[in-house]
Amino acid sequence: MSYLKVENIYKQFGGKAVLKNVNADIEKGELVCILGPSGCGKTTLLRIIAGLENPDQGKVIIDGKDCTNLAPAKRNFGIVFQSYALFPNMTIEQNVLFGLSEQKKLNKEQQRAKALEVLGLVDLLEHKNKYPAQLSGGQQQRTALARAIALSPGYLLLDEPLSALDAKVRSKLRLEIRKIQRELGITTIMVTHDQEEALTMADRIIVMNNAVIEQVGTPRTVYENPANTFVANFIGTMNFYENNTGTFGIRPENIELTKNELPDSFLTGKVCFLEFKGAMVRVHNKLYNNCEICVDLPAEKVRALELKENDTVYLKITDRHLIQYADVQEAV
Ligand SMILES: Nc1ncnc2c1ncn2[C@@H]1O[C@H](COP(=O)(O)OP(=O)(O)OP(=O)(O)O)[C@@H](O)[C@H]1O
Ligand SMILES: [Mg+2]
Repeated sequence: MSYLKVENIYKQFGGKAVLKNVNADIEKGELVCILGPSGCGKTTLLRIIAGLENPDQGKVIIDGKDCTNLAPAKRNFGIVFQSYALFPNMTIEQNVLFGLSEQKKLNKEQQRAKALEVLGLVDLLEHKNKYPAQLSGGQQQRTALARAIALSPGYLLLDEPLSALDAKVRSKLRLEIRKIQRELGITTIMVTHDQEEALTMADRIIVMNNAVIEQVGTPRTVYENPANTFVANFIGTMNFYENNTGTFGIRPENIELTKNELPDSFLTGKVCFLEFKGAMVRVHNKLYNNCEICVDLPAEKVRALELKENDTVYLKITDRHLIQYADVQEAV
């Protein structure tokens, strides 16, 4: 049985449906990312799970209990938002202690021990006497995380917790959050619109668009077998390629590229643009039939091939990498 279940959730604001019959099951200990473009309903779904918003229809079932009408305070979750929401006039330790002090089952000594324990977990012990303004964004967000997990909640809700941070801190914190989540085995739902974040952190991804769930699956499944063209385009980059049997999707890293003409199965094209991406170069090509196909190559290979704009190239697309979509007509 799943630990957290949303059943047939429907919600509208001002006559506009923002969640249309959404269903999801989350297992105990899982980290699930809700991924989708701005305005698709991610935060609303998270707020309904927290009890901060009521659904018009549907149920929220937590640990076998129907919690649809339960007040947020009785739902036993920890929550972290994009803005750290720390108290500026309290030290880091006091911020973490604040929620703990309402826990009647712990005495002062135990509360303090718990605060120090979670501050140790997020590696902030040496900063415990500082004020939020004296910490970096990443450290402040780790404080917010410590505060959320200090209460040993049944589950953790994270709404774009990393989106205010710069790229480097963000990718470091992704791994840290993931590690802590694993160590604690805490069921976690994290909202993000960053596909890379979802791919690196999640056990499973719920891909949303326009108030509905488009696909649920492991990072590998949604990347390698996207259910439709929306998922294919939203997660990573997908080329759409037509041959005489239909239209197919193919990832840029699954295409071979050469400058020497080779027998059959190679398509002729011309390089229109080299997009430098660090270790990799995305080579944008135009085929003889005007179809545009990009190919990702290691920068080293592009140098070795002496590849430049207007070069004639030959592309090989292997059948096993082709993905066919039922909804492809609307995408091309
Ligand atoms: N309290 C509200 N009153 C009216 N409309 C709302 C309210 N909350 C959300 N909406 C609308 O519902 C839709 C979904 O909003 P939601 O915040 O769930 O999107 P989101 O996927 O979290 O987007 P983002 O990535 O930008 O945070 C949006 O069109 C939003 O304007
Ligand atoms: Mg949101």
